[in-house]
Amino acid sequence: MSTFHVAPVRSDSGTNLMTRASSTSGLFALEQMEKDDEEPRGLTHVVSDGMLCDKGISEDWESSARIYEYGAAANPDLPAIPVLVHPASLHEAGPTRVIPFDLSSMIGGAAPCTSPNLMASYVRVLVGERISTAALATSQAYYVIRGGGSTTSEHGRVTWNTGDLFVVPKTDGQLVHECSAAEAHDGAALYWIHDQPLLDYLGVAPAVAKFDPTLFTRQRLLETVEEIRHAPGAEHKNRLGVLLGNAKTEETTKTLTHTLWSLLNSIGPKSVQRPHRHNSVALDLAVHAEWPAGRVYTLMGKEIDGNGDIIDPIKCVWATGAVFVTPPGWWHSHHNESDSTAWVLPMQDAGLYTHQRTLDIRFVDDELALHRGGRIRGSAFAVTNKQYTDIQTRAREDAEECPNFNYGLA
Ligand SMILES: [Fe+2]
Repeated sequence: MSTFHVAPVRSDSGTNLMTRASSTSGLFALEQMEKDDEEPRGLTHVVSDGMLCDKGISEDWESSARIYEYGAAANPDLPAIPVLVHPASLHEAGPTRVIPFDLSSMIGGAAPCTSPNLMASYVRVLVGERISTAALATSQAYYVIRGGGSTTSEHGRVTWNTGDLFVVPKTDGQLVHECSAAEAHDGAALYWIHDQPLLDYLGVAPAVAKFDPTLFTRQRLLETVEEIRHAPGAEHKNRLGVLLGNAKTEETTKTLTHTLWSLLNSIGPKSVQRPHRHNSVALDLAVHAEWPAGRVYTLMGKEIDGNGDIIDPIKCVWATGAVFVTPPGWWHSHHNESDSTAWVLPMQDAGLYTHQRTLDIRFVDDELALHRGGRIRGSAFAVTNKQYTDIQTRAREDAEECPNFNYGLA
């Protein structure tokens, strides 16, 4: 057996923490430089003979090395995140089942995924039936599109009804969902989001539960919206929305979990929410849009013009109960030309981005003001705390002129 010694040594500055390996007298010593004021950690690692001593190991390690000219590889050509829809009809008919929104073949994921970090699915459960779900994830969120029932797991049992949302942390076993009632389509429908694709990419499994199981009831969400609606200045807002937070993120990201982010957002009748963009991918559930579909929609595109209008936008028409993808970094605006309030529930990996200070959420009128001042912003971190509802309203009269790429939501 060879023995690894982890021995502390001091750096010149006395502040760096670094590790290096060396070989002396047939033994490998792993030396660790620690802070001056810290006591050495006495660690000993024992490994099998030959693990690091095989002849030819340098050649083996070199075989995986790739070296690129900077300009050729600094911005690699990865598959784009597509604008696609997961139609509501999928969870409105058929047997009890999970209906994955799997785009891995399009975006290059090695395992099922809807975006690089997230997986979205519908879970349909017929009345009187049950189904189990499982994910190797740090966060799982379930929004109840329709129906009433319960979910049982190692975290306990939670009952739910239409409009509720609950999240669970690392779960070793399964969650068993049982439907007891449904107001339509003979069964319940859940919108299920988790971050297993992120863990698949990292090649890791969750080690600890990062938050406690958490339930948001529809009643509590709507009561909060009503409070905002009646707050001073609310009459000037074209967006009434509530961000969903968690006690464990209260002092940090203020997001649904440490990786997930969600918002219950309403768009009043005959109003427009001007474009904004962010680096997180949005998987938007149209909670409610007036029927027949067609007068509530999202415009999205890569660029805006000098007036703040999205250039050559894709038009995604909302249909109640359907999900559509908003690619990362794309400008998007919400339009409600109907006579009733529309609701949307985006789920994003923005907890992760907020933690990294890379969400880079930008509102079009802020960017236009900068542009007119001859400035280009490097980071929009300073406006990430801006009230999400504080977007200037401006009527859009040219929306009909935009190309209509209806991706099947209608
Ligand atoms: Fe957004």
